[in-house]
Formats: sequence, structure tokens, C-alpha cells
Amino acid sequence: MKKIEVVRRLLGNRARDPVKERGVAFAPSNIALCKYWGKRNEELNLPVTSSLSISLGSLGTKTTVSLAGRRDVVTLNGKKQPATSEFAQGVSRFLDLVRPHRRAGFRVDTWNSIPTAAGLASSASGFAALAMALDDLFGWRLDRKQMSILARLGSGSASRSVYGGFVEWRAGKKSNGMDSYAALFPRRWSELRVGLLTVSEQKKAVASRAAMRSTKETSPLYAVWPGQVKRDLALVKKAIETRDFDLLGRTAETNALVMHATSLGAWPPVLFWRPESVALMHRIWGLRASGVAIYFTMDAGPNLKLLFLKRDTRAVKKYFPRVKIVDPFGNIPS
Ligand code: PMV
Repeated sequence: MKKIEVVRRLLGNRARDPVKERGVAFAPSNIALCKYWGKRNEELNLPVTSSLSISLGSLGTKTTVSLAGRRDVVTLNGKKQPATSEFAQGVSRFLDLVRPHRRAGFRVDTWNSIPTAAGLASSASGFAALAMALDDLFGWRLDRKQMSILARLGSGSASRSVYGGFVEWRAGKKSNGMDSYAALFPRRWSELRVGLLTVSEQKKAVASRAAMRSTKETSPLYAVWPGQVKRDLALVKKAIETRDFDLLGRTAETNALVMHATSLGAWPPVLFWRPESVALMHRIWGLRASGVAIYFTMDAGPNLKLLFLKRDTRAVKKYFPRVKIVDPFGNIPS
């Protein structure tokens, strides 16, 4: 099944005429505590396993979209992106799915409060915000489940960025992916903090799409991944439910390291880490050995995301002066 057929099913007989001049939406970035790594269907971004993430509150993407002219115009943080750039092409390919007619162009303005393509999951918030802004422009009123499916067609992890807080993306079984969408994991954890340690804001050398594919196809270690996720997902949920922070941190850190280990076994090998990433891991382990409950996770890039509790904020800031601290539940009304 093609993406466009999924969109037809999602939209049914909803109109392709704007109900307002501009659609606007914000979507948070998200960090997986139990990762999505490997697809069972590349076209529809259907995952091999389920995954669970935490959204980053007010850090994410704001997007406005309108119908204008015959060619798409895409800006990022105020700068027009060349039509040939990967960013503009990714946006235009997504817009192809909802274009009212072939010659209709869109203007899309995007503001990211996180570095783009540095492994800080900006594609997740980007496609989620775009899907939601289109819903606003066309007045579709899709429900969250439909919105999650639409966002997934842009990027897998975007399926989780249509919610704040803890979010679970269930892998689903159907070949059309209609049962593969994210849902809120309805627990708050106000003391939880995420720290962003940026090693490099440069675009990563290998895109997550290509890395996932080659890992699944060539790494002998990929065979252990589905079993690992099954265990880790259950443990992450248990940790959240019982507010067992050490269990949460340990499980998330192991899950990330196992994910990166599967990629190392690929050919050609995929290693997202820079020497600075490894140096930071040693510093985190050192701080942990001194009694601070601090853990990390990493996505398809060189940057680290710290997990700790509010009570340790001072120690973390002292040890990592450049850390950007996120309060994931700070802007979610209880
Ligand atoms: O959504 P994508 O194709 O950018 O893949 C994201 C994959 C990871 O960030 C590494 C893991 C995850 O679950 O977000």
C-alpha cells in the first residue's frame, strides 16, 4: 500500500479547500526511552517493535502553512530553504500527499527550537507540527489517532510527537498500518528532567532511515533487538508507574546502548558517537558512581540526553555547565 492510499483512507471525503488563510500548530520534540529501530514496512514507516517516549514540553517545532502560488516555498527559522535541499524536499514530498491539485503550491514556515538533524529528533516534531498545521488549514478535525498515523508517514518518531508527556507507539500488525499509532501513556512525573548535551549541531553523517535499514539487513546483532525492546518496554512502563527512577534510567540507558551496538555490527559499520560523546558517557558514569542518579540516552546522532530528577538539578548544572534542561511536564496542565 502507498502513503497516498493511507491518506485517502484517513481523510475520507474531507475537503481539500482551506477553511482559513493559514494553519498553525506546535508539536513537541520527543526522546524515546525505549527506541524505535528498524522498519517492517519502509514506505509506511511501520516499525518492527513498539516504542515509548517522553515529549520535550515547549521544545519543538512551530509551523504555519498556507496555499500560495504554484511552487512550494519552505522556510526554516526564517531562512528560505532551496527547493533542492533535503529539508524542502522532505516537506514537499509530504505535501504531495494532501495537495488539492497538482499545481497547488504551499508556503510552509517552520521554527525549530532544537537543532535540526543533530539527533535531537527535529524530524519528529517537524512532521507532527506539519500534519497538525494542515489539519488546522483544511479544518479536517482528525482525531489524535488519525493525526499520529498521518505524522508517521513523514517520519516514524513523528507519530509520538502529537502528544505531550509519556507516549507509547504501538507497532501494530496490519499491513496498511491503520493499527500503528501512538497513544498517551497517561502518567505524570513532575520531578523528571531531561538534559540536552549537544556535542555537534552539524547534520549527522548517516540518516536514521539509512542506518536503520542497513542495521536490520546486515547486523547479526539486530536479531536480539525485538526481544530487548519487549523486556525494556515492560520495564520502562513499570518504572513510570512505580516512580522507580533508577529502573527507568537504567532501562533507558541500556536500551540506547543496545540500539547503538546493533548498528556497530552493520556493514558498513554505523557509529554515531564522536570522541566527545564517549568522554561525556564517562563523566556521567563518574557522577553516577559518586551517588547522583543520572542516566543518559542517545538517538541517531552524537548528542546525549540526560535523565535525572529535579532534586539533582544543581549537581547536574555544576558538572555540565552547558546542559540545556527541559521540564517535560512543565507546560502540561494537570
Ligand atoms: O523517525 P526517525 O526516522 O527519525 O527515526 C528515529 C529513530 C530514533 O530517534 C533513533 C529512535 C526513536 O525511537 O526516536
